[in-house]
Amino acid sequence: MASSSSPSSSSSSSCLLCTALILVLSSLVAPHVAAAPLPFHPRDVLPLLPRQVSWPILDSLNSPDDLLPTFVGAASARNSTVKWKGACFYENSAWMEFHNKSGGEFGGGTLHIKVNKAHSWTCMDLYVFATPYRVTWDYYFLSRDHTLEIKQWEGKAEYEYVKNKGVSIFLMQAGMIGTLQALWDVFPLFTNTGWGENSNIEFLKKHMGASFEPRPQPWVTNISVDDIHSGDFLAISKIRGRWGGFETLEKWVSGAYAGHTAVCLKDSEGKLWVGESGHENEQGEDVIAILPWDEWWDFELHKDDSNPHIALLPLHPDVRAKFNETAAWEYALSMAGKPYGYHNMIFSWIDTKDGNYPPPLDAHLVASVMTVWNKIQPDYAANMWNEALNKRLGTEV
Ligand SMILES: *[C@@H]1O[C@H](CO)[C@@H](O)[C@H](O)[C@H]1NC(C)=O
Ligand SMILES: *[C@@H]1O[C@H](CO)[C@@H](O)[C@H](O)[C@H]1NC(C)=O
Ligand SMILES: *[C@@H]1O[C@H](CO)[C@@H](O)[C@H](O)[C@H]1NC(C)=O
Ligand SMILES: *[C@@H]1O[C@H](CO)[C@@H](O)[C@H](O)[C@H]1NC(C)=O
Repeated sequence: MASSSSPSSSSSSSCLLCTALILVLSSLVAPHVAAAPLPFHPRDVLPLLPRQVSWPILDSLNSPDDLLPTFVGAASARNSTVKWKGACFYENSAWMEFHNKSGGEFGGGTLHIKVNKAHSWTCMDLYVFATPYRVTWDYYFLSRDHTLEIKQWEGKAEYEYVKNKGVSIFLMQAGMIGTLQALWDVFPLFTNTGWGENSNIEFLKKHMGASFEPRPQPWVTNISVDDIHSGDFLAISKIRGRWGGFETLEKWVSGAYAGHTAVCLKDSEGKLWVGESGHENEQGEDVIAILPWDEWWDFELHKDDSNPHIALLPLHPDVRAKFNETAAWEYALSMAGKPYGYHNMIFSWIDTKDGNYPPPLDAHLVASVMTVWNKIQPDYAANMWNEALNKRLGTEV
């Protein structure tokens, strides 16, 4: 049965715990008794257990690889039905029906999912459905047809994406419901929507105690280029879209309230420039760039869809007096065009065997997000892992 209600309630979990322990015990003795097979596998009831109980059991049942979400396919138009074998249901298929029930410009869609041939009466499969604009999940207990309703696409971009690439479907081990619930805090951060933006704000409030108070208008200061000098610092906080999501996690793991920084430089003719990483070049790669101030500022004011909050932090006059503009220019020019540096980013988080992430984030969760994102935004996620791993393994090109 498709349901999104909470699968565990405290009143029933203690009893389920007994059941599970009995099952685990009986599965241990079962091989010696030539009895009928168990009606269901202990793994099947794990999702119903509290996480601290289910995880140790799970650890003893699965290899870590099994715990990551598995990409099973992308569902698009009816004539290209995707089929796969699940952990619980052995015959599954899905296709997308586009409709216009909302009467909006791009309409919406119904994802039809057919699950069949369960290996036991009580098992279930847990699914994550994702586009770059939304993530949702559901789990299935019963062999039958299920549907997932998407009232309205976020806009042309999502509509085109789903038409061309489909809705990505990931299968998760049923026991991973704990991870999935934790993912729930993290996934929407990356979606380029108002939902994503609010999720970022909520996340920072909840996990960092950050407060967000709307400023009085005007939201943009009239800044004069004459008042900005070489070495002045731009502290930037983006809260929407893919950069917003990454910045939120960066802020959280690093404890900073800015997720991105840039530096101002003036040339010998007094023209102002901004040195920044993460600038998208014509090939769609994120590189380090030195941009004319007017171009940079215009982009931030009018085109940056990550809703950036920018603070200008001028150098203290004493420090400015010591700032070597020539050396700064030499360094900036030597870095221009180089990759953004995902390796630094990811390894600034991951530097111990465990204890890298504040709860509820754990290595598993990060790997799960990356697995999902890898499929949906392959260029971006591949950058991050490939650069990071190449750096560690000394196999950079
Ligand atoms: C599926 O149908 C659409 C429209 O009916 C058509 O444009 C497309 O080529 C078909 N795709 C396949 C794989 O048959
Ligand atoms: C959905 O219906 C509305 C209103 O009738 C129309 O303007 C829009 O173009 C339709 N969209 C699609 C994708 O058919
Ligand atoms: C900013 O400058 C423009 C043009 O010089 C002016 O019209 C506007 O009132 C100024 N805004 C503020 C808040 O000073
Ligand atoms: C500033 O940097 C340049 C280039 O690295 C160097 O040649 C020069 O001596 C430096 N100036 C001072 C005052 O340190």
